[in-house]
Amino acid sequence: MSSVRKVTENLYWVGVNDKRLHLFENIHPIPRGVSYNSYVLLDEKSVLFDTVDWSGCREFLHHVKEVLDGRSLDYLVINHMEPDHAASMEEVLIRYPNCKVISNEKAFLFMRQFGFDLDGRMIEVKEGDTFCFGKHTVTFVFAQMVHWPEAMVTFDMTNGVLFSADAFGSFGSLDGKLFDDEVNFDRDWIDDARRYFCNIVGKYGPFVQQLLKKASTVPIKMFCPLHGPVWRNDLGYYLDKHDKWSRYEPEEKGVLIVYASMYGNTEAAAQALASKLCEKGICNVAVYDVSVTHVSYLVAEAFKYSHIVLASCTYNLQIYPMMYDFLHHLKILNFQKRTFGIIENGTWAIKAGDLMRSFIEHELKECLVLDEQVSVNSSMKESNKTELDALADALIDSIQK
Ligand code: FEO
Repeated sequence: MSSVRKVTENLYWVGVNDKRLHLFENIHPIPRGVSYNSYVLLDEKSVLFDTVDWSGCREFLHHVKEVLDGRSLDYLVINHMEPDHAASMEEVLIRYPNCKVISNEKAFLFMRQFGFDLDGRMIEVKEGDTFCFGKHTVTFVFAQMVHWPEAMVTFDMTNGVLFSADAFGSFGSLDGKLFDDEVNFDRDWIDDARRYFCNIVGKYGPFVQQLLKKASTVPIKMFCPLHGPVWRNDLGYYLDKHDKWSRYEPEEKGVLIVYASMYGNTEAAAQALASKLCEKGICNVAVYDVSVTHVSYLVAEAFKYSHIVLASCTYNLQIYPMMYDFLHHLKILNFQKRTFGIIENGTWAIKAGDLMRSFIEHELKECLVLDEQVSVNSSMKESNKTELDALADALIDSIQK
């Protein structure tokens, strides 16, 4: 008895869940854990699609052995060489000495870099090549930069299953529920799915768009990603989310307010703006303290909302460091197409506002900063209330356009 699950006829999930890892890629918190998915196809030939992180290797090998039930393993398809999926391949090759590895030239280069000895066991495929395992014939579709340059996806032309590598994945441990129709995705998963996409593949939106275009030319019935649920029901819902995220289009009209406050005065201004927006009828407002919330969550919320207000105190004549870190993450993730508002604060030299404006205008693509800026000198005064009103009105005008 194990956690192996049948995906569809002759196809089995043999992945593992990881609830012990604190930081994915040693950066992103994953309080709900993560799954490393891997699949076995039992056809005339037996095929394993990708492996799992080293931490789950022992359990994974048990799963593979259980499904093979005495058969040998003929092929291992590696769609993505990143170690959270490929680290266990060496153990697979030791246990199944006749197994050949199917992958592409760049992936084989990376395998050599990681120190894997594949002498005589490599079958190199190119974009559009097909391979027959018996009843099932697959084709290989390159998915460059989703999320590494060697990434590819494998489409089973016989049953419509797309082994989609990192695409259509999510943070979160499966805990027995393998399929999208076994979970309440929009309630329990979407925030982690967005956070996964934006922080892991968000930078490569144009490449995701290329893959979505290729995907639209084949009759996909199921996404089998390397993380998170398998999609067999509402594929359109998830495709639409990925289309929006990869075009850097917001999901919702609303205001994300992120503040950096040392003694509570900048926080008070941020909260006052939130109240004003709600009073004026815009209630889709989310407020975060940049010092409390991990930047991966802030990035995901930035992808979600149409408007962003940054409220920062001045620190060493600069933007508050954690606010600067948030902006830096937006820049390196290619974040774009938003309208920003600014609240600044300072006691003896107010600099944060001009510096944030300059960063947004020069470092982020297609972003607009509203003229109506709030400048707080230590604590909010009567004049700030007028400025806050003006900023709230400008945000509402922009939202309602
Ligand atoms: Fe889940 Fe790019 O590895």
